Amino acid sequence: MLLGRPLNSSLGVAAGPLLNSKWVEAYARLGFDVLTYATVRSTFQPAYALPNIRHVDNREQAAVVSRPTSNGDGATIAVSLGEPSMEPDVWRKDLRRARERIGRGQILIASVIGTPHLGGDADALIADYAQVAGWAAEAGAEAIEVHLATPDPFVEQPQMIYENVPLAARILHRTRTTVGVPVLARVGPFKTPRLLHETATRLAPWAHGYVLVHSIYRRVFDDKGAPAFEGAGRERADVVGAQTFTVASRQIAEMLAWRKAGAWDRAILAVGGISTVERARDVLREGADAALVATAALFDPLFAARFRQIRTAEVA
Ligand SMILES: Cc1cc2nc3c(=O)[nH]c(=O)nc-3n(C[C@H](O)[C@H](O)[C@H](O)COP(=O)(O)O)c2cc1C
Repeated sequence: MLLGRPLNSSLGVAAGPLLNSKWVEAYARLGFDVLTYATVRSTFQPAYALPNIRHVDNREQAAVVSRPTSNGDGATIAVSLGEPSMEPDVWRKDLRRARERIGRGQILIASVIGTPHLGGDADALIADYAQVAGWAAEAGAEAIEVHLATPDPFVEQPQMIYENVPLAARILHRTRTTVGVPVLARVGPFKTPRLLHETATRLAPWAHGYVLVHSIYRRVFDDKGAPAFEGAGRERADVVGAQTFTVASRQIAEMLAWRKAGAWDRAILAVGGISTVERARDVLREGADAALVATAALFDPLFAARFRQIRTAEVA
Protein backbone atom coordinates (compact mmCIF):
# COMPACT_ATOMS: atom_id res chain seq x y z
CA MET A 1 0.00 0.00 0.00
CA LEU A 2 1.18 3.51 -0.74
CA LEU A 3 -0.89 6.62 -0.04
CA GLY A 4 -3.92 4.41 0.46
CA ARG A 5 -3.50 2.53 -2.81
CA PRO A 6 -2.72 -1.16 -3.23
CA LEU A 7 0.45 -1.69 -5.27
CA ASN A 8 2.06 -4.73 -6.90
CA SER A 9 5.29 -3.83 -5.10
CA SER A 10 6.87 -0.94 -3.19
CA LEU A 11 9.69 -0.52 -5.71
CA GLY A 12 9.77 2.48 -8.00
CA VAL A 13 11.71 4.93 -10.10
CA ALA A 14 12.58 8.31 -8.55
CA ALA A 15 12.16 11.61 -10.40
CA GLY A 16 14.61 11.94 -13.29
CA PRO A 17 15.02 8.88 -15.48
CA LEU A 18 11.38 8.83 -16.66
CA LEU A 19 11.52 11.73 -19.09
CA ASN A 20 8.19 11.17 -20.81
CA SER A 21 5.32 8.70 -21.23
CA LYS A 22 7.46 6.31 -23.31
CA TRP A 23 9.93 5.93 -20.43
CA VAL A 24 7.10 5.61 -17.92
CA GLU A 25 5.49 2.85 -19.97
CA ALA A 26 8.79 0.99 -20.47
CA TYR A 27 9.70 1.02 -16.76
CA ALA A 28 6.14 0.10 -15.75
CA ARG A 29 6.52 -2.97 -17.95
CA LEU A 30 9.93 -3.73 -16.44
CA GLY A 31 8.15 -4.12 -13.11
CA PHE A 32 8.70 -0.81 -11.33
CA ASP A 33 5.39 0.03 -9.68
CA VAL A 34 5.92 3.56 -8.35
CA LEU A 35 6.60 5.71 -11.40
CA THR A 36 7.73 9.30 -11.00
CA TYR A 37 7.42 11.54 -14.03
CA ALA A 38 10.57 13.72 -14.24
CA THR A 39 10.29 17.19 -12.77
CA VAL A 40 8.16 19.63 -14.75
CA ARG A 41 7.89 23.41 -14.70
CA SER A 42 5.51 26.18 -15.77
CA THR A 43 7.88 27.12 -18.61
CA PHE A 44 10.25 25.39 -21.01
CA GLN A 45 13.78 25.09 -19.64
CA PRO A 46 16.64 23.51 -21.58
CA ALA A 47 19.18 21.21 -19.92
CA TYR A 48 22.70 22.44 -19.20
CA ALA A 49 25.36 21.77 -21.82
CA LEU A 50 26.96 18.33 -22.11
CA PRO A 51 28.57 16.64 -20.34
CA ASN A 52 25.93 16.90 -17.64
CA ILE A 53 26.41 13.49 -16.06
CA ARG A 54 29.81 12.12 -14.98
CA HIS A 55 30.96 9.05 -13.12
CA VAL A 56 32.59 10.06 -9.84
CA ASP A 57 34.26 8.79 -6.74
CA ASN A 58 32.58 10.41 -3.73
CA ARG A 59 35.57 11.40 -1.58
CA GLU A 60 35.75 13.17 1.75
CA GLN A 61 36.26 16.74 0.49
CA ALA A 62 34.56 16.53 -2.89
CA ALA A 63 33.43 14.19 -5.63
CA VAL A 64 36.11 13.48 -8.23
CA VAL A 65 35.54 12.32 -11.78
CA SER A 66 36.48 8.67 -12.20
CA ARG A 67 36.16 5.84 -14.65
CA PRO A 68 32.91 3.93 -14.48
CA THR A 69 33.54 1.33 -11.78
CA SER A 70 31.85 -1.96 -11.33
CA ASN A 71 32.70 -2.81 -7.76
CA GLY A 72 29.46 -4.71 -7.43
CA ASP A 73 27.46 -2.02 -5.66
CA GLY A 74 26.71 -0.02 -8.78
CA ALA A 75 27.49 3.38 -10.26
CA THR A 76 28.01 6.70 -8.51
CA ILE A 77 27.48 9.76 -10.68
CA ALA A 78 27.35 13.54 -10.49
CA VAL A 79 24.34 15.07 -12.22
CA SER A 80 24.29 18.69 -13.39
CA LEU A 81 21.24 18.94 -15.62
CA GLY A 82 19.68 22.22 -14.41
CA GLU A 83 16.22 20.70 -13.82
CA PRO A 84 15.09 21.02 -17.44
CA SER A 85 11.42 20.88 -18.44
CA MET A 86 9.39 20.47 -21.59
CA GLU A 87 6.85 23.14 -22.58
CA PRO A 88 3.79 22.85 -20.34
CA ASP A 89 1.53 22.23 -23.37
CA VAL A 90 3.71 19.26 -24.28
CA TRP A 91 4.09 17.66 -20.83
CA ARG A 92 0.46 18.15 -19.87
CA LYS A 93 -0.65 16.03 -22.84
CA ASP A 94 2.15 13.55 -22.37
CA LEU A 95 1.50 13.10 -18.64
CA ARG A 96 -2.08 12.12 -19.48
CA ARG A 97 -0.70 9.53 -21.90
CA ALA A 98 1.63 8.19 -19.19
CA ARG A 99 -1.31 7.73 -16.83
CA GLU A 100 -3.16 5.72 -19.50
CA ARG A 101 -0.15 3.47 -20.03
CA ILE A 102 0.59 2.28 -16.53
CA GLY A 103 -1.01 -0.91 -15.24
CA ARG A 104 -3.04 -2.08 -12.27
CA GLY A 105 -1.22 -1.89 -8.97
CA GLN A 106 1.00 0.94 -10.21
CA ILE A 107 1.00 4.63 -9.31
CA LEU A 108 2.05 7.69 -11.30
CA ILE A 109 3.60 10.53 -9.31
CA ALA A 110 4.46 13.84 -10.99
CA SER A 111 7.45 15.79 -9.71
CA VAL A 112 6.96 19.56 -9.87
CA ILE A 113 9.18 22.56 -9.25
CA GLY A 114 8.54 26.31 -9.17
CA THR A 115 10.50 28.64 -11.42
CA PRO A 116 11.77 31.86 -9.85
CA HIS A 117 11.58 34.83 -12.21
CA LEU A 118 13.86 37.86 -12.12
CA GLY A 119 12.48 40.32 -9.57
CA GLY A 120 9.78 37.88 -8.51
CA ASP A 121 9.04 37.45 -4.81
CA ALA A 122 8.17 34.45 -2.65
CA ASP A 123 4.44 34.82 -3.39
CA ALA A 124 5.13 34.51 -7.11
CA LEU A 125 7.26 31.41 -6.62
CA ILE A 126 4.63 29.79 -4.37
CA ALA A 127 1.92 30.52 -6.94
CA ASP A 128 4.10 29.04 -9.67
CA TYR A 129 4.64 25.78 -7.73
CA ALA A 130 0.87 25.53 -7.19
CA GLN A 131 0.10 26.17 -10.83
CA VAL A 132 2.41 23.40 -12.05
CA ALA A 133 1.01 21.03 -9.42
CA GLY A 134 -2.56 21.89 -10.50
CA TRP A 135 -1.75 21.19 -14.13
CA ALA A 136 -0.08 17.89 -13.27
CA ALA A 137 -3.03 16.73 -11.15
CA GLU A 138 -5.47 17.78 -13.87
CA ALA A 139 -3.46 15.69 -16.37
CA GLY A 140 -3.89 12.60 -14.22
CA ALA A 141 -0.97 12.46 -11.78
CA GLU A 142 -2.09 10.37 -8.81
CA ALA A 143 0.24 12.19 -6.41
CA ILE A 144 2.34 15.33 -6.61
CA GLU A 145 5.95 15.38 -5.47
CA VAL A 146 6.99 18.93 -4.63
CA HIS A 147 10.69 19.39 -5.31
CA LEU A 148 12.06 21.40 -2.39
CA ALA A 149 15.70 20.24 -2.62
CA THR A 150 16.55 23.09 -4.95
CA PRO A 151 18.38 26.35 -4.17
CA ASP A 152 16.41 28.95 -2.25
CA PRO A 153 16.52 32.03 -4.52
CA PHE A 154 15.74 34.52 -1.74
CA VAL A 155 18.81 34.27 0.49
CA GLU A 156 22.46 35.22 0.21
CA GLN A 157 23.83 32.31 2.22
CA PRO A 158 23.31 29.29 -0.04
CA GLN A 159 20.58 26.99 1.24
CA MET A 160 17.89 24.77 -0.22
CA ILE A 161 14.19 25.58 -0.10
CA TYR A 162 13.52 22.71 2.36
CA GLU A 163 16.02 24.37 4.71
CA ASN A 164 13.85 27.51 4.68
CA VAL A 165 11.01 25.93 6.59
CA PRO A 166 8.51 28.84 6.45
CA LEU A 167 8.89 29.03 2.66
CA ALA A 168 8.68 25.26 2.23
CA ALA A 169 5.54 25.16 4.40
CA ARG A 170 3.88 27.91 2.36
CA ILE A 171 4.67 26.11 -0.91
CA LEU A 172 3.24 22.85 0.42
CA HIS A 173 0.19 24.56 1.90
CA ARG A 174 -0.67 26.26 -1.38
CA THR A 175 -0.07 23.08 -3.36
CA ARG A 176 -2.13 21.01 -0.94
CA THR A 177 -5.07 23.41 -1.16
CA THR A 178 -4.82 23.49 -4.98
CA VAL A 179 -4.78 19.77 -5.81
CA GLY A 180 -7.07 16.96 -4.73
CA VAL A 181 -4.38 14.25 -4.78
CA PRO A 182 -1.72 13.42 -2.14
CA VAL A 183 1.24 15.79 -1.88
CA LEU A 184 4.78 14.59 -1.16
CA ALA A 185 7.68 16.79 -0.05
CA ARG A 186 11.05 15.97 -1.64
CA VAL A 187 13.89 16.94 0.68
CA GLY A 188 17.65 16.52 0.87
CA PRO A 189 19.97 15.68 3.74
CA PHE A 190 19.68 17.57 7.04
CA LYS A 191 22.66 18.87 8.98
CA THR A 192 21.40 17.37 12.27
CA PRO A 193 18.73 14.87 13.35
CA ARG A 194 17.02 17.69 15.24
CA LEU A 195 16.67 19.77 12.07
CA LEU A 196 15.26 16.75 10.26
CA HIS A 197 12.73 16.23 13.04
CA GLU A 198 11.72 19.89 13.30
CA THR A 199 11.32 20.26 9.56
CA ALA A 200 9.31 17.08 9.10
CA THR A 201 7.06 18.06 11.99
CA ARG A 202 6.46 21.58 10.67
CA LEU A 203 5.74 20.34 7.15
CA ALA A 204 3.58 17.39 8.23
CA PRO A 205 0.25 19.26 8.26
CA TRP A 206 0.63 19.91 4.52
CA ALA A 207 2.32 16.76 3.25
CA HIS A 208 1.11 13.19 2.91
CA GLY A 209 4.68 11.98 2.78
CA TYR A 210 8.37 12.66 2.37
CA VAL A 211 10.71 11.63 -0.40
CA LEU A 212 14.33 11.60 0.81
CA VAL A 213 17.30 11.89 0.23
CA HIS A 214 17.39 13.88 -3.01
CA SER A 215 21.19 13.96 -3.44
CA ILE A 216 24.46 14.93 -1.85
CA TYR A 217 24.94 18.38 -3.33
CA ARG A 218 28.66 19.06 -3.48
CA ARG A 219 31.68 20.20 -5.44
CA VAL A 220 32.77 18.02 -8.32
CA PHE A 221 36.29 18.16 -9.78
CA ASP A 222 38.06 16.37 -12.56
CA ASP A 223 41.30 14.49 -11.88
CA LYS A 224 43.30 17.72 -12.41
CA GLY A 225 41.34 19.64 -9.79
CA ALA A 226 39.31 21.70 -12.30
CA PRO A 227 35.52 21.96 -12.03
CA ALA A 228 33.98 18.89 -13.67
CA PHE A 229 31.12 20.81 -15.28
CA GLU A 230 31.65 23.87 -17.43
CA GLY A 231 29.80 27.10 -16.78
CA ALA A 232 28.67 29.40 -14.00
CA GLY A 233 26.68 27.88 -11.15
CA ARG A 234 27.83 24.36 -11.90
CA GLU A 235 30.67 24.02 -9.36
CA ARG A 236 28.35 21.90 -7.26
CA ALA A 237 26.23 19.08 -8.56
CA ASP A 238 23.92 16.33 -7.32
CA VAL A 239 26.06 13.36 -6.36
CA VAL A 240 23.85 10.27 -6.47
CA GLY A 241 24.10 6.50 -6.72
CA ALA A 242 25.77 3.66 -4.85
CA GLN A 243 28.31 5.57 -2.75
CA THR A 244 25.65 7.85 -1.27
CA PHE A 245 23.76 5.02 0.42
CA THR A 246 25.55 5.34 3.78
CA VAL A 247 24.54 8.98 4.15
CA ALA A 248 21.06 8.59 2.64
CA SER A 249 20.10 5.50 4.59
CA ARG A 250 21.10 7.16 7.86
CA GLN A 251 18.75 10.07 7.09
CA ILE A 252 15.97 7.69 6.12
CA ALA A 253 16.49 5.77 9.37
CA GLU A 254 16.21 9.04 11.33
CA MET A 255 12.96 9.87 9.57
CA LEU A 256 11.58 6.39 10.28
CA ALA A 257 12.60 6.68 13.94
CA TRP A 258 10.80 9.99 14.38
CA ARG A 259 7.68 8.56 12.79
CA LYS A 260 7.87 5.57 15.10
CA ALA A 261 8.17 7.95 18.03
CA GLY A 262 4.74 9.19 17.04
CA ALA A 263 5.52 12.76 16.01
CA TRP A 264 3.45 12.40 12.84
CA ASP A 265 2.25 9.64 10.58
CA ARG A 266 3.26 10.25 7.00
CA ALA A 267 4.54 8.07 4.16
CA ILE A 268 8.32 7.82 3.80
CA LEU A 269 9.60 7.14 0.30
CA ALA A 270 13.25 6.17 0.48
CA VAL A 271 15.68 7.29 -2.20
CA GLY A 272 19.45 7.67 -2.43
CA GLY A 273 22.02 5.04 -3.25
CA ILE A 274 19.61 2.13 -3.44
CA SER A 275 21.76 0.34 -5.98
CA THR A 276 21.15 -3.30 -5.08
CA VAL A 277 18.07 -5.40 -4.43
CA GLU A 278 19.39 -6.04 -0.91
CA ARG A 279 19.49 -2.33 -0.19
CA ALA A 280 15.92 -1.90 -1.46
CA ARG A 281 14.78 -4.74 0.77
CA ASP A 282 16.70 -3.29 3.75
CA VAL A 283 14.98 0.10 3.61
CA LEU A 284 11.58 -1.54 3.16
CA ARG A 285 12.23 -3.88 6.06
CA GLU A 286 13.13 -0.86 8.19
CA GLY A 287 9.67 0.54 7.44
CA ALA A 288 9.96 2.77 4.37
CA ASP A 289 6.74 2.82 2.34
CA ALA A 290 8.59 2.68 -0.97
CA ALA A 291 12.13 2.22 -2.27
CA LEU A 292 12.89 4.44 -5.25
CA VAL A 293 15.89 4.19 -7.56
CA ALA A 294 17.26 6.60 -10.14
CA THR A 295 20.90 5.73 -10.98
CA ALA A 296 20.21 2.00 -10.76
CA ALA A 297 17.15 2.41 -12.99
CA LEU A 298 19.42 3.85 -15.68
CA PHE A 299 22.32 1.41 -15.39
CA ASP A 300 20.42 -1.69 -14.33
CA PRO A 301 16.90 -1.69 -15.82
CA LEU A 302 16.39 -5.35 -14.82
CA PHE A 303 16.63 -4.37 -11.14
CA ALA A 304 12.86 -4.74 -10.70
CA ALA A 305 12.83 -8.20 -12.26
CA ARG A 306 15.44 -9.37 -9.74
CA PHE A 307 13.62 -7.66 -6.87
CA ARG A 308 10.45 -9.54 -7.81
CA GLN A 309 12.23 -12.86 -8.31
CA ILE A 310 13.71 -12.79 -4.83
CA ARG A 311 10.33 -11.87 -3.36
CA THR A 312 8.59 -14.67 -5.25
CA ALA A 313 11.28 -17.12 -4.20
CA GLU A 314 10.83 -16.12 -0.55
CA VAL A 315 7.06 -16.53 -0.71
CA ALA A 316 7.32 -19.92 -2.43
C1 LIG B 1 19.82 11.31 -14.57
C2 LIG B 1 19.12 11.79 -13.34
C3 LIG B 1 18.18 12.79 -13.43
C4 LIG B 1 17.52 13.27 -12.30
N1 LIG B 1 16.56 14.22 -12.43
C5 LIG B 1 15.83 14.59 -11.35
C6 LIG B 1 14.71 15.46 -11.48
O1 LIG B 1 14.34 15.88 -12.58
N2 LIG B 1 14.05 15.81 -10.36
C7 LIG B 1 14.39 15.36 -9.12
O2 LIG B 1 13.74 15.71 -8.15
N3 LIG B 1 15.43 14.50 -8.97
C8 LIG B 1 16.14 14.12 -10.04
N4 LIG B 1 17.16 13.21 -9.89
C9 LIG B 1 17.51 12.72 -8.53
C10 LIG B 1 16.84 11.37 -8.24
O3 LIG B 1 15.45 11.44 -8.19
C11 LIG B 1 17.33 10.77 -6.91
O4 LIG B 1 16.90 11.56 -5.84
C12 LIG B 1 18.85 10.65 -6.83
O5 LIG B 1 19.39 10.25 -8.06
C13 LIG B 1 19.27 9.64 -5.74
O6 LIG B 1 18.86 8.33 -6.09
P1 LIG B 1 19.88 7.25 -6.71
O7 LIG B 1 21.04 7.17 -5.77
O8 LIG B 1 19.07 5.99 -6.82
O9 LIG B 1 20.27 7.77 -8.04
C14 LIG B 1 17.83 12.72 -11.02
C15 LIG B 1 18.79 11.72 -10.92
C16 LIG B 1 19.43 11.22 -12.07
C17 LIG B 1 20.43 10.11 -11.93
